[in-house]
Parts: sequence; structure tokens; C-alpha cells
Amino acid sequence: MDHFDLKNGSIHCEEVPLELIADEVGTPVYVYSAATLRRHARVLKAALADLDNPLIAYAVKANPNPAVLSVLAREGLGADIVSIGEYRAARAAGIDPECILFSGVGKTAAEMAEAISGGLKQFNLESVEEAHTLSIVARSMDAIAPVALRINPDVEAGTHAKITTGTSDNKFGIPAADALAAFRELRGLPNLNVTGITVHIGSQLTSLAPLQAAFERLGAIIAELRADGFELEIADLGGGLGVPYGAGQPEPPTPEAYGDMVKRVTRDWNIRLAFEPGRLISGNAGVLLTRVVRVKPGETHPWLIVDAAMNDLMRPALYDAYHHVEAVHPSGRRATAHVVGPVCESGDTFAMAREMDEVAEGDLIIFRTAGAYGAAMSSGYNSRPLTPEVLVDGDRWALVRRRLDLADAASLPLPEWLRSRD
Ligand code: LLP
Repeated sequence: MDHFDLKNGSIHCEEVPLELIADEVGTPVYVYSAATLRRHARVLKAALADLDNPLIAYAVKANPNPAVLSVLAREGLGADIVSIGEYRAARAAGIDPECILFSGVGKTAAEMAEAISGGLKQFNLESVEEAHTLSIVARSMDAIAPVALRINPDVEAGTHAKITTGTSDNKFGIPAADALAAFRELRGLPNLNVTGITVHIGSQLTSLAPLQAAFERLGAIIAELRADGFELEIADLGGGLGVPYGAGQPEPPTPEAYGDMVKRVTRDWNIRLAFEPGRLISGNAGVLLTRVVRVKPGETHPWLIVDAAMNDLMRPALYDAYHHVEAVHPSGRRATAHVVGPVCESGDTFAMAREMDEVAEGDLIIFRTAGAYGAAMSSGYNSRPLTPEVLVDGDRWALVRRRLDLADAASLPLPEWLRSRD
């Protein structure tokens, strides 16, 4: 459920008409609903309420906007981070370091050192090689680094190949068969405290079966490790639960069904559970608001050329992802169109032959479910500025990231040898 609804003939985010935001900020612009973010955090907390002190660490990569993080920090969520930039953003938003998990296959020694000195719950390590580096870093700082090891359970997640992470062909984690040997090696490394185990098999999962298979695999490994003397405190079950992208798209399981499955599978584990939801929290809490620049006749259907492009929302170009399209002022008439951006690539396509609200040049439309992996993945391709972001909270709204011209922000004077024309 979200808070982008039709009121008096036009789509509002909570109490604010989207048209007002478009007029004041310009388009394209991402619009987030604080009420939706809070709702998603609360629904997940309720679904996991019977567990003993679960740690819900929001996957910052999905939407790292400081205002979004601040709303979630106030809901008591922790953070799953994959770079020191995300670490700093999480801390700046007020997230308790004891609720920060540091994931990712390529953490550098400098990133490790900064996280150790700032504090965190644990490093989620992805290889034994990484553990060696962390051990050296922690030792040089005279610190003990808390670590979990990520297991690759070799489970097919049934999602898009580019967002599948838990099969043996993926770069993530330690093969399940090597887990015991890897944990033993970690135990022998100085300045590491082995506290946990983690798994994450992919994103936008629309079935519980692969998650359940991965968790069962993890449960067996936990038993094996305990028999070997490891005292594990935390089992991090990752993120990945899908969200509904609209009619005709796969319906993911509810957070309640997910919670029930987790409770069933982990009943005898006697361990604190952690979760790393990203899309579930922010996906349907955001839309990309854009204006139709031009309607160009097409062979089969008209081309609706909008002022947002693949650099603003990469998901359709990258994953053939579906985003629901709606007019901000629907007339009630329907039409079929191709919705594309102005970037000079055929892949700059949001929807082909989509039956949707009929719109004309100058009209506003939204792409729904753009609150996760939308602005977060945007770029300045085609010398386009980064899209601004707005947070709505009831009848209040604020610009929370300005339109940023990267060419301006990152440019330097030409090197001397390029300055003269001869
Ligand atoms: N934990 C780890 C270790 C992850 O790698 C991810 C996502 C998450 C948690 C959060 O997953 P979520 O709950 O959001 O599914 N750009 C893609 C999604 C990439 C996901 C990467 N890892 C997309 O737009 O669909």
C-alpha cells in the first residue's frame, strides 16, 4: 500500500498535489512519501514481532537519500551498507552504529578502518581473503572486528539474472560446502571476533520457496558450526523480498507470509536474526514524476517522449523492468503508446506498446514503484543533471536533493596544455 492517490481528479502524494511539486521544482523529479516509508517499516516490524529482538537493517543502496534515511532511523531501523559513503550517510541520519552491517565483496582497507573507528555491529565478509585484510587492519588499530561470513547456498532465486546473487556462478559469499573450513580459518585470524553468518540470494523475489531453501541450508550450517564450537550470535537472512509493481506483474508474498516462513524455519535456531530489506521499504514509497515533451507519431503506436530518461531511472533499460505509468490528471480515456526518454539510445525506453491513460504534450505522468533503485542508480549520461528528490510528509513537502549538474559540480579548469588553441 502507498500514499499516491487520485484526489479531485489529480494524483496527490499524501496531501500534496504532484502538479504543485512539478510546478515548483520542475520535472523530472522523484517524489517520496514519508507515510509510505513508515508504513512499510511498521508492517515488516509487525510481521517479525514474535522474534527475539530482530535487527532490521535497511539496505541503504535502495535509496540513500538523507531524508529517507532519517525517516527510517526514526522508525528504529538499522542499516545494511556497502560502502563508506553509505556508512557516513547512515550515521549522519542518526542510525545507531550497533545496527549497522557492512556488506559487499570489495571493502577496502581504508573503508574497514573508518568503520572500525566509527563503530558497527558487524562486517559481513564475502571471502576468506577479505578476512585476512580485515584482520591486518583491525590489528593495526588494536581493535577487535566483529565478523559474519556470507554463505552462498547455491539456490536459484527465480528473479532476473542480473539481480540473482545466491548461485555458485555469482561472485558473492563462500560456497556452502566450504563454510566450515572458512569459519575455521577465520577463527585462527587475530583481531577478528566471529559472531555471525549471513545469506542473501537476490532481489525482487516473488516466491518464498528459494528463500526457504536458502534459510534451511543456513540452519544446517549453523548446527554444523556450533558442533565445532562456534558461538554464533546473529544469523542475517538478507533482503530480497519482492514488491508489487502493478497489475499483471508477479504478486510477491506478503511480509506476514515471509515472517511466518522465517519463524517456522528458524524455530530452533536460538539466535538473533537480522534482515536487510531495501526495496520492500522504499520501492512503493516513491514515484518518478515527468512531463511529456512531445508526442511523435509511430508506425504502430505514438511515441510519448518524456523529460525523464534512462539516466534517471535505469531499471527498464537494465533489467527490462516494468514500472506502472499513470497520468497525473487522468481523463478516463485509454490509449496505447510507447513511453521513451530523450537519450540517444534505443534502450531509453520505459514502456513499449503500453495501454495507459491517454496523455498529450505537456501532461504530467508518473512511473510508480521508483523509490528503490531509482535515484540511487541515476547518472548524468547525455550531460543530463541528476534528478532532484522531494519528500512529502502529510501536507508538508521539501526538496531533499537539488537538481545537480554533474558537469558543473565535477569540472576542473582545463590542463594547461589544452588551453592554447595552437
Ligand atoms: N542485502 C544485500 C547483501 C544486497 O546485495 C541487497 C541488494 C539487499 C540486501 C537488498 O535487497 P532488496 O531487499 O532491495 O531486494 N538494482 C536492482 C536491485 C539490486 C539489488 C542489489 N542488492 C534493481 O533495481 O532491481
